[in-house]
Amino acid sequence: MTEQALVDLAFTMLERSYVPYSHFPVGAALLCADGTVFTGCNVENAAYGSTICAERTALVKAVSEGRREFTALAVVGNGGDYCWPCGACRQMLYEFAPELTLLVGRGDGKYRKTALKELLPHGFGPSSLN
Ligand code: THU
Repeated sequence: MTEQALVDLAFTMLERSYVPYSHFPVGAALLCADGTVFTGCNVENAAYGSTICAERTALVKAVSEGRREFTALAVVGNGGDYCWPCGACRQMLYEFAPELTLLVGRGDGKYRKTALKELLPHGFGPSSLN
């Protein structure tokens, strides 16, 4: 799967977003080490804090289907700025994939490539508990 194909897949998920409150759709596509891809979108809730982000939707779908190794995540929004993952998503991803590559997109289709470790330096992970 090319980077562009992963980003494209994330964009297709924008229409699945359930965003009656923020009207800010987010799409994600998570590439597993075995080549499988799990997609996700944000799903909001009338109790706002119960909302789940697109990245975490993709992650919990993947883990619940038996995957725990990930190589890249595309996350995209419709806005003018790049759709940087929120803190909770960075932390959840770090648990399984501190070396994850991130492809972060915006509404005009452009994306930036970075690393989870750039966005969450000195992260707290499983080995921190040793
Ligand atoms: N959102 C995500 O899906 N991922 C992020 O990393 C940032 C925020 C969603 C949550 C909410 O539905 C909307 O964007 C506005 O915060």
